[in-house]
Amino acid sequence: MKFSRLSELTDLAAVAPSQNISPAHRLWIEQLRQIDAEAIGDNDDGSDVIFGLSQTPKSLPPHYFYDDRGSHLFEEICDLPEYYPTRTEASILRDCAGEIAQITGDCEIVELGSGSSTKTRILLDARMAQGLPLRYLPIDVSGGMLEASAKQLLADYPTLSIYGLVGTYEQALAQLPPPQLSERMICFLGSSLGNLNPAECDIFFSEITNALHPTEYFLLGIDLHKPTEILEPAYNDAQGVTAAFNLNCLQHLNWRFNGNFDLNKFAHVSFYNLEQRQIEMHLRCLESCTVTLKSLNLTVEFQEGETMMTEISRKFDLQEMSDYLWQSHGLATVRIWTDPNQWFGLMLCQLQPAIS
Ligand code: TRP
Repeated sequence: MKFSRLSELTDLAAVAPSQNISPAHRLWIEQLRQIDAEAIGDNDDGSDVIFGLSQTPKSLPPHYFYDDRGSHLFEEICDLPEYYPTRTEASILRDCAGEIAQITGDCEIVELGSGSSTKTRILLDARMAQGLPLRYLPIDVSGGMLEASAKQLLADYPTLSIYGLVGTYEQALAQLPPPQLSERMICFLGSSLGNLNPAECDIFFSEITNALHPTEYFLLGIDLHKPTEILEPAYNDAQGVTAAFNLNCLQHLNWRFNGNFDLNKFAHVSFYNLEQRQIEMHLRCLESCTVTLKSLNLTVEFQEGETMMTEISRKFDLQEMSDYLWQSHGLATVRIWTDPNQWFGLMLCQLQPAIS
């Protein structure tokens, strides 16, 4: 993989976490440029769509969920009564943020997929209450979202300094700036880990450990295996928001590649695959049809009843994850927190020095 070191400052001067310095001087945002998009497979020339739709069974690349409407629908999903992960994780964070601050001490927070930084505030509040320095490095592909939430945070936390990185996790992890505090903690919250298959997970954790120095921390949120009766409604809510989110992929493809998917001919299907311990999201074709994506020069036949997979959401076991992180990646579990139902887990890990 090759990454650009070209960076473009979109905001202002040097960083200095001091109460007397204006918010503008506590913010630095770096735009990471990618030279070799194809090598990391997230190019958007549609080759991944052609590939997925030529497979049997067909599949679609998950990143087509997150256009503007999709991102908005996902925010709605997070507030649904059936969707327990967001709420549960926030409640665990409220309970353990003080302890995390105590354990990690003078530590800067790097967050992958920072979005609106809502949960980060819980971590920052606990650090502030203990009089610890506040330094935050949010990473997100959406520059607009990152800048807006960073400015809001600076207004609310007078001692906070922010160094934002706009780019993919891979890009940002490969070029984090040198730490300014004595410790660093990379956070990966939400249940996004479950959207990676085992091979992708392995690569992801290697990128994390390459970005960490020995003794630095990694805070990971994981959604846990639980009864199917709880899992399935979380991915198939009564109001149909999840269905709209899944179907929106087709709308996005129509717009992006001049296509003619008829959304009435497809339906959202999701179920828990108990053997694989993963929720699977599919779109089922309700009526045979021919779909053309003009700008990809692609025509695809769909048979009635045929399904294509759009996403997986794996569910984990805390002990297995802890063993795997240690054995395969040298990440030692420092502490684990969970909710009373054991629906969601937060793991604080620490990279161990390599034994030579
Ligand atoms: N990261 C989320 C999860 O695994 C993604 C998600 C929630 C999702 N609901 C969805 C993806 C519905 C596709 C369809 O919980």
